[in-house]
Amino acid sequence: MQIAPSLLAADFSALGREVARVGQADMLHIDVMDGVFVPNLSMGPGLVSALRDKTHLFFDVHLMLCHPVQYIEVFRKAGADGVTFHIECGDGPEELIEAILACGAKPGVALKPGTAPEAVGPWGEKLSMITVMTVEPGFGGQKLLPGPLAKIRALKERFPGVPVQVDGGVNRETAALCAQAGADILVAGTAVFRAEDPAGEMAWLRQAR
Ligand code: DX5
Ligand code: ZN
Repeated sequence: MQIAPSLLAADFSALGREVARVGQADMLHIDVMDGVFVPNLSMGPGLVSALRDKTHLFFDVHLMLCHPVQYIEVFRKAGADGVTFHIECGDGPEELIEAILACGAKPGVALKPGTAPEAVGPWGEKLSMITVMTVEPGFGGQKLLPGPLAKIRALKERFPGVPVQVDGGVNRETAALCAQAGADILVAGTAVFRAEDPAGEMAWLRQAR
């Protein structure tokens, strides 16, 4: 199991230091919101680039944006290693995947809780990661919805080579549910950044069975 702490739950007044607290993570999850696709605003490319030389962690930028195609290269230049877009974003998935690959980043797609796994077309095999959201996107600290976890098996059957990540409400109580459903990667914001010992919390989540 890999662990991706979500920066949304970090202390925004000290982000450089916060990133250093999660050095043992497998990747850093960075939530970008536009206030339209989701009813909240969060971080932009300037913040990604300010953090780029603070850590060697893989940056997975989760774009909760309408029409993200115009921002792919911007985030890549800012330091994104992976770019995850929402299947419900309004741009064509194939165009987005091509744009992400063209600038040398790894493409990922995210599905809201109500989106069927069949929405991922044959282009899914070009993805480096699929994110199954277990909360409505927009805010950290919500309770995990168990229903969407059932999508993981179907996705892994169709795309056996593509790791599946669970995003939303992952903590000590819910990590085993995600592991049993077949998750390969757990995003955890509140659980990791609000812990006194983020490394210990990540170690705990990593061994979820
Ligand atoms: C929600 C974000 C999540 C969020 C997870 O819109 O995509 O990544 O930060 O936070 P927790 O782990 O607190 O639910
Ligand atoms: Zn996210």
